[in-house]
Amino acid sequence: MTSRDKADQWSPASYAANARFVSDLGEPVVDWLAPETGENILDLGCGDGALTRRIAERGAGVVGVDASSSMVAAAREAGVDARVMDGEALSFDAAFDGVFSNAAMHWMIDPGAVLDGVRRALRRGGRFVGELGAAGNVATITQAIDCSLAARGIERPHAWFFPTPAQWSSLLEDNGFIIEWLHRFPRPTPVPNGLEGWLRTFGHDCFDQVPPGQRDAVIAEVMERARASLCDDDGNWTLDYVRLRFAARLA
Ligand code: BEZ
Repeated sequence: MTSRDKADQWSPASYAANARFVSDLGEPVVDWLAPETGENILDLGCGDGALTRRIAERGAGVVGVDASSSMVAAAREAGVDARVMDGEALSFDAAFDGVFSNAAMHWMIDPGAVLDGVRRALRRGGRFVGELGAAGNVATITQAIDCSLAARGIERPHAWFFPTPAQWSSLLEDNGFIIEWLHRFPRPTPVPNGLEGWLRTFGHDCFDQVPPGQRDAVIAEVMERARASLCDDDGNWTLDYVRLRFAARLA
């Protein structure tokens, strides 16, 4: 979830309806973390705690943090030890054997602050395993949004950070991590409620400056611009996700 200091725009109900694929497709990241009984793990950007629970099921102690109080409330209801915390201002000190993060860090637009906090949160030799959107992620959608906003004299806010492998590698190394593996790959992603459901769940920051009465029209326009690339003849939308997955260890 976003780490920005703004009103909590997340709704656990809308997330469950439109975004369950995010945790479903993140399950392999838990396998790469390979949490073990007796370890302490931090889930950075835990959302409603679906993957935090998977980590706990492996026997590890796990704390989830998220900037969204409504998502943290949903995680707590599901039995997760979750806390409201800004990912750019983590307040842990050598408390964890591993830090895990799935589809959350691209919402945190000061990656230096994030990685400084992850480094401080880990014990010496601790591991950091995660996934985030990579350069080129949802490019067709962002181009469509940019065109529709530009036609109204609006610039899209800088809401997401999608690094190249080289950028992310440098950031990790500058913060004392040794990279074990890191790769970028396209992952075309079918979405349950089309581009409209996706925009209304994930795109809210983009439309902040659009007068409320015009938002539906802008969303409809964005969908028309993206339709030829992302929607099949039966009306199924498959979005142009590109992921960056990595495992690193603190020196
Ligand atoms: C993603 O998971 O790649 C993503 C989520 C929301 C907005 C943009 C990208």
